[in-house]
Amino acid sequence: MKKIGILGIGSYLPERIMSNDDWSQLIDTTDEWIVARTGIRERRFAADNQTTTDFGEMAGLAAMADSGLEAADIDELIVATDTPEMFFPDSASFIQDRLGLREVPAYDLAGSGCAGFLQALDVAHSRASVGNKRVLVMGIELASRFFDWSDRNTCVLFGDGAGAVVIGPVDSGSEILAIATGTDGSRAEILSRVAGGTRMPFSMEVAEKRLHKLTRMDGREVFKEAVARMCAASHSVLEQAGVDLDDVKLLVPHQANMRIINSVAKHFGAPKEKVFINVDRYGNTGSASVPIALCEARDLGIVGSGDLVLCTAFGAGFHWGAALVRL
Ligand code: UT7
Repeated sequence: MKKIGILGIGSYLPERIMSNDDWSQLIDTTDEWIVARTGIRERRFAADNQTTTDFGEMAGLAAMADSGLEAADIDELIVATDTPEMFFPDSASFIQDRLGLREVPAYDLAGSGCAGFLQALDVAHSRASVGNKRVLVMGIELASRFFDWSDRNTCVLFGDGAGAVVIGPVDSGSEILAIATGTDGSRAEILSRVAGGTRMPFSMEVAEKRLHKLTRMDGREVFKEAVARMCAASHSVLEQAGVDLDDVKLLVPHQANMRIINSVAKHFGAPKEKVFINVDRYGNTGSASVPIALCEARDLGIVGSGDLVLCTAFGAGFHWGAALVRL
């Protein structure tokens, strides 16, 4: 089997900025509280007329342009999102059409929360290896459409955005060296949105009580588990690849919260200058966070060709993952 590498990276962030002060006009919160507990200063929100497909189109076009490939060159599309275009069909169907891809397999990987992109990358890696394919992999979230704007425990944490990579067979240079993903469903409800599924179908009661907007989250439990799982997954990919942390140029963790990121860095043993952070500007963009951060780190020149980058993420499920990549 051929080596599989990243051929191109792209991202999309909407223009509308929502600052902590903007939130403090709407709910009982302050910039001080949000910065101290999360490190977030502002986040982006989609315009009223934008949907998941628009975000996927923008990030997909950017990743394809970066790879020097055209729509006709893409052999498969995987979209990780918890904020889909509609209940069915999946967002990938709409994005496949919008991007003008051939009639290739296109599907969503939904419900994995912030770990969705790395899970999709893991699947894409297998598909690319076995089928010698070029796979477009995306993480997209329009969280602002789904969360409860009156629940201060959750609404200030999230932002909208999309990130994408094209992966495919390479002769040399870029290479995905190792990927590890996993799931522990035993505490699935700790971070969940129940309404709208078979357990609590959409109804007048759901609408009246706004349960479709309710995100259940035990923040402290999520925090502890996120740190432990991202550290373990990161160690696992280093071990799989036989690579020392000293040789890694940059750690790109899921941008959930500055305190989680700092804690991962500390427990994993990565010095702060090796850890990429943009949660202050974009908040938690869910499954889009890792590809957005990877793209920004590359665009800023922090990493480039030949550098080793370790990405890791954790999300609802619980699901988690890590990928060690040579750019
Ligand atoms: O990708 C997965 C997505 N989820 C996460 O990443 C969440 C991970 N967890 C966290 O980031 C943190 O647990 C939070 C940022 C959510 C909360 O930080 P904390 O230090 O664990 O705070 P806490 O839960 O202990 O809450 C402290 C207080 C509470 O008030 P009382 O009960 O002590 O009176 C909250 O009601 O802070 C209150 N609070 C707020 N106050 C002002 C909660 N949200 C806000 C807010 N503004 N936005």
